Amino acid sequence: MSIHISSHIRDIHPPPITEVKGWLAARPEGGPDLIDLCQAVPDYPPAPELINHLKGLLDDPLTARYTPDEGLPEVRRSVCDRYRRRYAAKLEPDQLCLTVGASQAFWLAIMTLCQAGDEVILQSPCYFDHPMALEALKIKPVFAPFEEERQGLPDPVAISRLITPRTRAILLVTPSNPTGAVIPPALLTELYLLARRHRIVLLLDETYADFTPGQPHELFTIADWHNTLVQIMSFGKSYALTGYRSGLLAASAELVRQALKIQDSMAVCQPRITQLALKYGVEELDDWVEANRLLMDFRHNLFVHAFSRPGNRFRLVSSGSFFAWVRHPFGRLTGRQAARKLMDEAGILCLPGEVFGPGLEGYLRLALGNIRENMIPEAVRRFREMNA
Ligand SMILES: Cc1ncc(COP(=O)(O)O)c(C=O)c1O
Repeated sequence: MSIHISSHIRDIHPPPITEVKGWLAARPEGGPDLIDLCQAVPDYPPAPELINHLKGLLDDPLTARYTPDEGLPEVRRSVCDRYRRRYAAKLEPDQLCLTVGASQAFWLAIMTLCQAGDEVILQSPCYFDHPMALEALKIKPVFAPFEEERQGLPDPVAISRLITPRTRAILLVTPSNPTGAVIPPALLTELYLLARRHRIVLLLDETYADFTPGQPHELFTIADWHNTLVQIMSFGKSYALTGYRSGLLAASAELVRQALKIQDSMAVCQPRITQLALKYGVEELDDWVEANRLLMDFRHNLFVHAFSRPGNRFRLVSSGSFFAWVRHPFGRLTGRQAARKLMDEAGILCLPGEVFGPGLEGYLRLALGNIRENMIPEAVRRFREMNA
C-alpha cells in the first residue's frame, strides 16, 4: 500500500525544469548535440579569490556551526553597506533575514503576510515557482494579463482593477523571469504608491538586479519604505553561487521578527559557509559582479542581433541579460509541444510559455545565462532552420 500524499499537493503541477529535463530520456537518438536554454544559471565559475577565501575557513570548527536564525550580524552589516552603495538604501541589519536562496525568502514573506484564502497579484508571465508556492499554501494567485505591446511590464491601471479586500500583495519580478524586462524606476514608484494607497505590500523579487546598470530604483530611499515594500533577493546569480543557496528578505524589523518563527522551523539559518561567502562577495567583489554584468550584456546583445535579423519565424517579444521571451511560429501547437519539437528536431532545450501563467501557450522562454558567446550563432541558426 502506498503512502498517503495530500491530494492538494498532488494537484499542483510538477516543477517545469524537472518536467522538461525529463523529456530528454525519450529524445530520438542521433540528433544534434543539446543546447540547454532551460535553466537560468551563469555558466562561469565563482570568483577564484572567493573560493580561496572559503578554503581558508574550512579548518575552523566554527564554520560548521549554526548561526543566529537571521544570519550573522557582521554579514548583515556588510550587506547593508552594499545596499547603501547600490540603492542609496535606508536599511538596517535588523531589517534583513538571510535565507536559503531567494526561494526561501519568498516563502518567509508569503507565510508572514498571507493566510489561506488571501490573494496575491502577479504580473503575467510570472516566475513559475511563485504560483506553485502560493497554491501549496492555498493562497490565490491572481494574474495581471500579459500585454505584448508592454513587453510584460506591469500596468498600474490593470493591477488596480484586480485589488480586492482579500489582496495582500502585488508581486513583481524585476528584471523579469521570463521576459527579461526591467521595470523602470518611475513605474516602480507608481506601483509602490498604488500598493501604499491600498495598504497592501509591494513584494519585489530582484534576483537579477545585479545584471542591470546603475541604481535599480529609489524605493529604499523612502524613509518608511518598510511599511509597504518587501524585497526578496538572491546572490546565487550575482556571485555564481546558485548551489550555495544565498538569498535574503528585506522588510520591516517587525516583519523579519515574525518571519523568524518560520525561519527557525524551516531552515534555522542560511548555512554559515554561505554567509561567509556572501560577506566576502559584498565586501570584495563589486568589480567582479560588474565585469560579469557586462559579459552577460554582451551575450544578450549578440543574441538579440542574430535572432532578430529578418528570416526568423520565431519572434523576439522581450529580452534581457538572462532571458528571451519568444513567440513560436507553430500556431496549432502548445508551448509544450513546440518546446518538445525544438528538442527533438533542433536539440534546443527551453521552457514552454504556459508554465509562466495561463494563456501563454504561444510563447517560449530561452535562458541565455548558460550559453557562451561562441555557441550563440549556432543556437540562433537552429531556430532559423526549424520547419513549421
Ligand atoms: C525570479 C526568481 N526568483 C527566485 C529565484 C530563486 O533564486 P534562488 O536560487 O536564490 O532561490 C529564481 C531562480 O531562478 C528566479 O528566477
